[in-house]
Amino acid sequence: MILGHRWHGRGCLAGLVLAASLTFGAATARAADPDPDLQAVQAVCGRCHTLAVFLNKPRSWSRWNDVFADMTQRGATGTDEQLERVTRYFLENLTLVNVNSSPADELAWVLGVPDDVAQAIIARRERQRFTTLAELRAVPGVDAAKIEQRKSRILF
Ligand code: HEC
Repeated sequence: MILGHRWHGRGCLAGLVLAASLTFGAATARAADPDPDLQAVQAVCGRCHTLAVFLNKPRSWSRWNDVFADMTQRGATGTDEQLERVTRYFLENLTLVNVNSSPADELAWVLGVPDDVAQAIIARRERQRFTTLAELRAVPGVDAAKIEQRKSRILF
């Protein structure tokens, strides 16, 4: 399960199981303004320092998990719902993905596609590596608007 990957690995969030059941469909439901996921980030991560230490500074999902583990050890905590929102916010807004190497769950979250489309992307790259966003958009089920919006985080 991608959500909450290492939140509960060690430290004071032990036992909190994040969003194992969160479905892709649920991820698309959100109020227009203010963004409740960003509000959760503010509540969980803004307690000790400004969000400027990470907003607009995308990293790979594995590097974010290292940060989450580090911050958990420093005392970061939240309700299950807050951590689920934080996880989703990072995946949708601050996570880098490599269409030629990232695992299916990361492709699904970062590109905003269902699992079967993520699998189709993997099948396509096994036949032939992606070299352009246009090739990615050509995979059936890929949302061109989301790709446009997230293109700075899509690597080849
Ligand atoms: C209990 C206090 C606390 C909370 C809550 C907290 N942090 Fe931190 N964070 C720190 C401290 C202390 C540092 C400075 C560490 C240093 O200078 O080595 C830091 C530094 C950072 C850094 C810069 C260092 C790096 O690894 O790049 C990032 C990024 C970061 N925090 C992200 C987060 C995120 C994301 C959250 C929410 C999930 C969060 N923090 C919540 C205490 C906290």
